[in-house]
Formats: sequence, structure tokens, C-alpha cells
Amino acid sequence: MSLSDCSEKVPSSVSDELQFPMDDYQAINGASTAEKSVSSKPSVQQNDTTDEIWRSINNNRDCLPKNCDDPREGLERAASLKCALGAEEEVVVVPTIEHDSSKHLQSAPESPDGGGQDVESDKEKAGRGSLENKTSLKPSPSVGTSLVHLVPEASNAKSNGLETGSSSMMDEAWDRLRRSFVYFQKKPVGTLAAVDPSAEDLNYNQVFVRDFVPTALACLMEIPDPEPEIVKNFLLKTLHLQGWKKTIDNFTLGEGVMPASFKVMYDSFQEKDVLKADFGGSAIGRVAPVDSGFWWIILLRSYTKCTGDYTLSEEPEVQKGMKLILDLCLSDGFDTFPTLLCADGCSMIDRRMGIYGYPIEIQALFFFALRCAQQMLKEDTDSNKLIERIERRITALSYHIRNYYWLDFTQLNNIYRYKTEEYSHTAVNKFNVIPESIPDWVFDFMPLRGGYFIGNVSPARMDFRWFLVGNCIAILSSLATMSQTTAIMDLVEERWEDLIGEMPLKIAYPALEGYEWNIVTGCDPKNTRWSYHNGGSWPVLLWLLTAACIKAGRPQIAKRAIELMEQRLSKDGWPEYYDGKKGRYVGKQARKHQTWSISGYLVAKLMIENPSNLAMISLEEDKKIEKPRLTRSASWTCSRLWRLFDEKSDNNPSIRHDWRLCRFWCVREKTEM
Ligand code: GLC
Repeated sequence: MSLSDCSEKVPSSVSDELQFPMDDYQAINGASTAEKSVSSKPSVQQNDTTDEIWRSINNNRDCLPKNCDDPREGLERAASLKCALGAEEEVVVVPTIEHDSSKHLQSAPESPDGGGQDVESDKEKAGRGSLENKTSLKPSPSVGTSLVHLVPEASNAKSNGLETGSSSMMDEAWDRLRRSFVYFQKKPVGTLAAVDPSAEDLNYNQVFVRDFVPTALACLMEIPDPEPEIVKNFLLKTLHLQGWKKTIDNFTLGEGVMPASFKVMYDSFQEKDVLKADFGGSAIGRVAPVDSGFWWIILLRSYTKCTGDYTLSEEPEVQKGMKLILDLCLSDGFDTFPTLLCADGCSMIDRRMGIYGYPIEIQALFFFALRCAQQMLKEDTDSNKLIERIERRITALSYHIRNYYWLDFTQLNNIYRYKTEEYSHTAVNKFNVIPESIPDWVFDFMPLRGGYFIGNVSPARMDFRWFLVGNCIAILSSLATMSQTTAIMDLVEERWEDLIGEMPLKIAYPALEGYEWNIVTGCDPKNTRWSYHNGGSWPVLLWLLTAACIKAGRPQIAKRAIELMEQRLSKDGWPEYYDGKKGRYVGKQARKHQTWSISGYLVAKLMIENPSNLAMISLEEDKKIEKPRLTRSASWTCSRLWRLFDEKSDNNPSIRHDWRLCRFWCVREKTEM
């Protein structure tokens, strides 16, 4: 059933969402929908076609992309699965989304904090009173006023350290994951960031877009019954939120911005669920999440790849949402680099940590999202220009990152010997990096075998720190070449003690200490050395490492990390992060029962047990993208000039000039041409 079919059954979203009556049972008994969900699986699992769905998914997965030249590789339609999902009719009724921004301009509330609520139409408002009266908003019963009831004593049984068997740990993880489900009008739409009754909620009682990704993957990979419904609902709900007008201090954010998180509230006056979203207006530092939109596109592809349900990605509103995200990052500006300029704290590391500029995490996600969009955008006159721009950006981005972010022993030595103050496009040291700015630690850290993409590259600045997310996403999106992928894996093995230690995995390495911490983090007491984002160890990252290892053909590395984690994670109560050089201590302010620590573990297990699951979150290499030519001056190597000279020198005096320079340089450096 397509979304448009659905629209005949239900009214449009804004009013629909608000008119959907609360469950009587819930209202009378006060039982949360979350509680009910544990025993009652969504009907998508109950129908007789489950086996058929799963068979179709497996068949679909067997058809791993072969033709790398086709940008739509890997998204072949799975006709049988589509039919199977037709059984959805009795399952989910997803309201159509009103994504017409002009409508939202009228109906969406503007909130001075950059957030807002999902509201009803003016007509409804008149009849019912304004929802802007925040005093009538309470935590939704589906979230629960208290989280205590979500963590029954019994489920702690396995956390006492006596049982570390991975199957019981998996059972516990599934159980806990389901308890974190958030419902909007009885439909699961996401997961709470953490279910820790012992700590202050802050914003951990919200559904974070990035946090939901491993949960979504776990649901798509679940055996024997995948749960695509929650993923679809989440994609639609966040798409709907994107349509809001987003204002912070009278400044209107770009149309395509996706929320960092959202919350389901219960309006006791209206007696219905309402949404409240944060686009950065409530976040620490007031930074919009650049990663959310990219993750949304990536997840849309995972959903499509897993289910074969094209109706969702082809829906006009979904296509529009995708285009709005792309418009945000492909717009022309003053840039001289194809990378995306970002504020500090705009991604998983959502506090000041010196990642402003061109952080690898965002660049890798950007590349991944562009490639996913390339597969999913429907070709029409409107989209064709955009598709061309995407292609050009992919080429430029991969060239830039593969060449300038890459660091291995040889490249480090080259940088160490850089000359400065070079002028013209033949410069070897293009960004005028002063060799004295290379930190001491990197000389010891860099093994002879191995390499990685550094954290950031901008004028006179290379951030040599290791960031796991960026490197793993580079592998999964095939931004990293095969040899770079192998080198990253080599580095993880060679520097196991530093990057994995006693609890996988370091989010960044090394920690900023002393004066540097002072200057770079602004003395952030949460990001002290070897804690939280500043060299802390995050269990959630296990799924990314596992996926990257499988892609690199090195699953044994992931297995080792999984075994290490299994010794402690459940026993320690699934913390958000660990502290210390080796990640030995449960993090100072770490939440317990952090949802993505749980789902990250599940995804790692589901992938290691069934490596074909990788196809949901990985793209094959695009052979059309140029390989890096890492010599001294990557984009103006002698060989390139040689070719250019051959082709154009007769009528291009500037090439002649370059050629003379190049020749001079090669002779001086005794380099072969
Ligand atoms: C912290 C993390 C962020 C995450 C959020 C919810 O703020 O830095 O990446 O999304 O918690 O878990």
C-alpha cells in the first residue's frame, strides 16, 4: 500500500495526529503504551507472511550490488517483498505528511527556543484552546511520568555479572530496547535516549535522531521477525518535524534542517499526544545538528534496502524532504573546499571539542548521504540538475578527503618536512600547515603499518586526532579506498590498547589535557581528559566498528571487541560511556541503560552472526570516482601536469608555466615523472 493509499483512510497529518484519540485503557489504567508493547508485538510480526517477508529480505540481500557503475546499485526492487509488505494494510496506517512549507508557515508554531510543538489547525485551535499553553503539557503516558516502572527489578537479574552468556545478554538487550520505545498515538516512533531512573532526565527522555539509527538497524535486522514499522514511522515523523518553521532568537533556520531530537508530550487539556522538537534551540551551545539530516537519508536507504518498500522513498513528500536536506549542503557560497563548514558540536560530539571547521565525521556522513540520495532520488526534470550536482560533489569530496585527510607514516613524514609560505597552485603544502604544529603524540602513535583520516583539515590547521565515527563511516560509504580501509584496520590492530583498551571504543584519541583542554573545550567540566567526548569510550560505537571490520574482510577484529564488551556491558548496566585511558571506569556522568549502547551491541551481534546484514548500511565502491594519487602535491602531480601538457600545452600558456615549475621541482627533488 502506498502512502497515498493511506491518505484516503486517514485525514492529513497535522489534524490527524492531534485528533487521534488516546487509548481508553491507557487513560483509565494509567498503563503506558510502552509497557503494553513488551507483550504485544506489532501486528506486522503476527501475520502469516512473516516467513515470506524474511525469505524475501534474505533473497534481496543475496543480490549484493554488482554493478558499481550504476548509482542506484543495491537498491533493486524486491517485488516479492513489496507484495509481502502489502500485508501492511492491516498493520500500520501511516498518515500522509503535510510537507507543504507554506502550510507550515501558517500552522507551525514558532518557538523562541528553536523548538516547537506539533499543533493543530487554526480551526481546531479555536475549538479547543491553544496548545501553546505549555502548562497543560505533561510527559506523554507513552513515555511515562516516571521511568522507574520501565526498569523492573527482575530484568536486573542478568546484570549481576554472573551471566555473561551472549544469548542471555541479547535477550536482555532486546527486552530493554523494547522498553525504550516511544509511542505517538499508539504507534512506535522512536526510542528514548536512556531509561535511567537514577539520573536526572535532562534531554535523555527524548528521541534523538542519531541515537535511533542503531535501534532502527537492529529492528531491520531482527531475526526472525524484522520490525520495519517503527523505522518507517520514525522517518515520517521526523520528516514532518522538518516541515516546521524553525526559529531561534528571531533567526529562521534553513528549511531542510532536521531535529536533533523530539519528545512526545501529552496534552492533558486536549487529551492527546503532541510533539516537541529541538533543532538546536535547546541544545547546549545552541548548535543545529548537521548530522541528523544525513543520518535520515542514510536510514531511508537502509529501510528501502531491507524491505524493498520503494513506496516510501518515492513518495513526493519524502523526495522533497531529501532535496531540502541536500539544498542545505550543496548551496553555493564562498567555499574553496568541497567539504562542509561546520560549527563546533554539530554532531555526535555535541559540545565544544575543537571540531569546528571541516570535521571528518560530518564530511564522511555528507559523502554517505550524497551517495544514498543518488540512489533514491527519482529522475525527473526537477531532480536531474540536483543529481548532477551530487555527482560533481561526490567526485570533489572524495578527492579532497582521500588526499588531504589521509595520514600514514609516509604522509606524516612528508608533512614533517613541509616547507611553508608556498604560493600558487603548485604548492605542496597547500594549507600552509606549519610542521611545528604537529603534536608530539602523533609521531609515536603512527605505526609503520596503518593509517587513518585525521579529524579536520583547514587553513594552517590539521587536527591529527583520531575520530572513530568518521573513519568507520568513510569505510562503509566507500569514501575510503580499499587500501585505506585496510590501513585503518591495521591501525586499529596496531593501536588496540589505545583505541579499544579494556572497553570498546574510544570516540576520539588522544584526550585534550591541561592548557589545550582549557583553550579548546573552554574548560568543559564534562569533557575532562579521557572522559565523555574527550577520549571517553562509547559502547555504541561497536556497531560501526563491526560493520567496518566486516566490510574490510576483518571480522575477527570486531569479534575480539565484542567479546571484550560482553564481559562488562550488561553487568555495568549498559552505560553511555566509560572513562579512563583504557576505558576501565563507568563514565563520571554516564547514564545507565543508554539505549544506543544496547542497540549498538545488538547490531554488532546481528551483523557478525549474519554478515549479509552489512548491505543495509554499506555502499560498494563507485569505480567512477578517481583514486587518490598520493605524491607530494596530490592534485597537481607531475604525472597530471604531464598529461595536461600533452593535451593542452600547445595553446595554453599557463599550463606551460606550470610545466616548467613542475619540471624544476622534479629535478630538484629527484622525483620521477
Ligand atoms: C549526548 C551525546 C549525543 C547523543 C545524546 C543522547 O549528548 O553527545 O551524541 O545524541 O547524548 O544520547
